[in-house]
Amino acid sequence: MKKSIGLDKINTAVFISGTGSNLKNLIKFSYKKKTPISINLVVSNKKNAKGLKYADKNKINKIISKSEKKIINHLKKKKITLICLAGFMQILSGSFIKKFNGKIINIHPSLLPKYKGLDTHKRALKNKEKFSGCTVHYVTPKLDSGKIILQKKVKIKKNDTEKSLKMNILRQEHKLYPKAINKIFC
Ligand code: GRF
Repeated sequence: MKKSIGLDKINTAVFISGTGSNLKNLIKFSYKKKTPISINLVVSNKKNAKGLKYADKNKINKIISKSEKKIINHLKKKKITLICLAGFMQILSGSFIKKFNGKIINIHPSLLPKYKGLDTHKRALKNKEKFSGCTVHYVTPKLDSGKIILQKKVKIKKNDTEKSLKMNILRQEHKLYPKAINKIFC
């Protein structure tokens, strides 16, 4: 992927479906002096995604659609060259991923290749894992299987519940996503 040079920021879109805490955090990161990215578009496949409020608050263009065709049109219009998936609960088609080959990254709440897919925290607790964590990886047509950019381990405590583990991992996700972007572009 192209490295960021000087003032030229990487035009970035963040795709969400829910709370958007990673979106909020990436927006904050995009305001830092030395950041390689600017966030130019927020895409949601759900009209009631709570995270959409961060697009509004920060006056970032948003699009609410499930249609890849519509999404692609907006991505082109905004000259987007990096797509950050952040809790986006829609499987992207192979042709979409091919079109943006190597330019789509995702954050996943487990230490991939362990616990691909959903309910990662529940499954890690059920299996009495000592650690879980989060992973930022490139998106390929095979679910949660693209090249890993960065990972962070999180210790599972004896009294952890699904909720507490999720929160502990989310806190690390917010550090990891910017770090991973810096790793790619800086
Ligand atoms: C995060 O745990 C992320 O790893 C997963 O979905 C969740 C999104 O959380 N892919 P949020 O909407 O960013 O708060």
